[in-house]
Amino acid sequence: MKPSLSAIKTLAKKKYYLLFFSFFLAFLISILFWQYDWKKTLSASFLVLLTNIFLCEGVAENNRFFKMHYQYTLTFYVILNLSAFFCLAIGAYFGFELLSTYFGVTLITILFGRKLGQVSAVFLFFVFSLAFPSHWAFLFSCLLIGYITAELTRNVKRRIELSSVAFLIGAIQIGLYLLLVLFGFERFRADFLWKIALVPPASTVFVIGLLPYIEWISRIYSNIGLLELGNLNHPVLKSLITRAPGTYFHSTVLASFAEVAAEKIGCNPILARVGSFFHDIGKITRPDYFVENQDGENPHDRIKPQISHLVLSDHIKSGIELAQKHRLPLLFEDMVAQHHGTRVQTFFYNKAKEIDPDVDEDAFRYEGPKPSFKESGILMLADSCEAALKSVGKLDSEKARNVIKKIVLGIFEERELDNSGLSLSDLENIEEAFLGVYLNQNRSRIAYPQNRTWFEVPQKTRASERKNGKK
Ligand SMILES: [Fe+2]
Ligand SMILES: [Fe+2]
Repeated sequence: MKPSLSAIKTLAKKKYYLLFFSFFLAFLISILFWQYDWKKTLSASFLVLLTNIFLCEGVAENNRFFKMHYQYTLTFYVILNLSAFFCLAIGAYFGFELLSTYFGVTLITILFGRKLGQVSAVFLFFVFSLAFPSHWAFLFSCLLIGYITAELTRNVKRRIELSSVAFLIGAIQIGLYLLLVLFGFERFRADFLWKIALVPPASTVFVIGLLPYIEWISRIYSNIGLLELGNLNHPVLKSLITRAPGTYFHSTVLASFAEVAAEKIGCNPILARVGSFFHDIGKITRPDYFVENQDGENPHDRIKPQISHLVLSDHIKSGIELAQKHRLPLLFEDMVAQHHGTRVQTFFYNKAKEIDPDVDEDAFRYEGPKPSFKESGILMLADSCEAALKSVGKLDSEKARNVIKKIVLGIFEERELDNSGLSLSDLENIEEAFLGVYLNQNRSRIAYPQNRTWFEVPQKTRASERKNGKK
């Protein structure tokens, strides 16, 4: 296949950044340790460059989000190389015992996932080894610590969880240091013990302090940041509540559908839930044009179906603008853009067909793109299923199952889910999850006794109050 010009440009851009970071890092190492020894600088930069390229290829091939947004690659390398430099600087000025993979690995794991956290531990080990070759055994223990850190911080959702992991890692690192002393790889020094124990908790303070800035600048959010957005205090959600209450209600209901489904198929339920809260924020601009916010009057009755299509499609564009303006996560912007994919607005298409039977179906399609990751695919399915189930009223389990199956199959056959990464077994699990949520949300309540409104105080209570002297 012939590579396109834009693909070559993107590749060159990536290599350019990689080269820049590699030489920058190697240059800093040379200042710290080798007083401008250019032979060592060149060999170090070559090694760092190779490690970076090796990591980059591995990352790009396996991580969906890295392929979607160059911001991911850039942020990953900035954090990785800068954390390597800061750890080295601390090691150079205060002693090698303060070298730790904890800071870099924790930041990368909570932003990009466990695998990349573990790959970063390998990179940091290589870079630390360049500067402190005589302490290779201690650095090898740092590599092990990096692996364990990535494993322990992969599902962190609250800041306090990071602190408890930090103390645990400190204890493990002391254990490993004592083992190295026991086997003769390092000399015992009592002051090393408290220094080693303190590095992870102290690093946690910097991780927690830096995280909001990294998230705001890169628009790549950790689960901690996503949960903050999901507490419904965000100004965009507040304006959705007041300006488009029907849309807000629809978003919160479908968020439960998306969250349970994401959990069932093993992708990120927090991204699915909080992304769902924001998927229709574009409706704030013209709330009255959407059925869930209408109160009797329908403005579409006064306009042509073609214009109705344009107004409805505009909620995608407005949503993207709002997501960019408020620096919402890049993945939320994708979810806003992709939640209708390239589907046809059947209602207005049919209405236009009644007027002109030759009307073009493609003129009534959303612009897309189609969902490009699992959580976005789930959102598309949840959006359609929630709307369909709501429109047909209360259904029993079998009928609700049929409605969900029909909607999911329809979207699958329209090939809207081709790029989402959802498999057929995922779709079956999603259907089950949606059905479970629907049935739970529509359970019958015990009816209140007849002939008595809920606010009436029972006669028995009144009698007992009189008896106790209350009026
Ligand atoms: Fe929508
Ligand atoms: Fe929606």
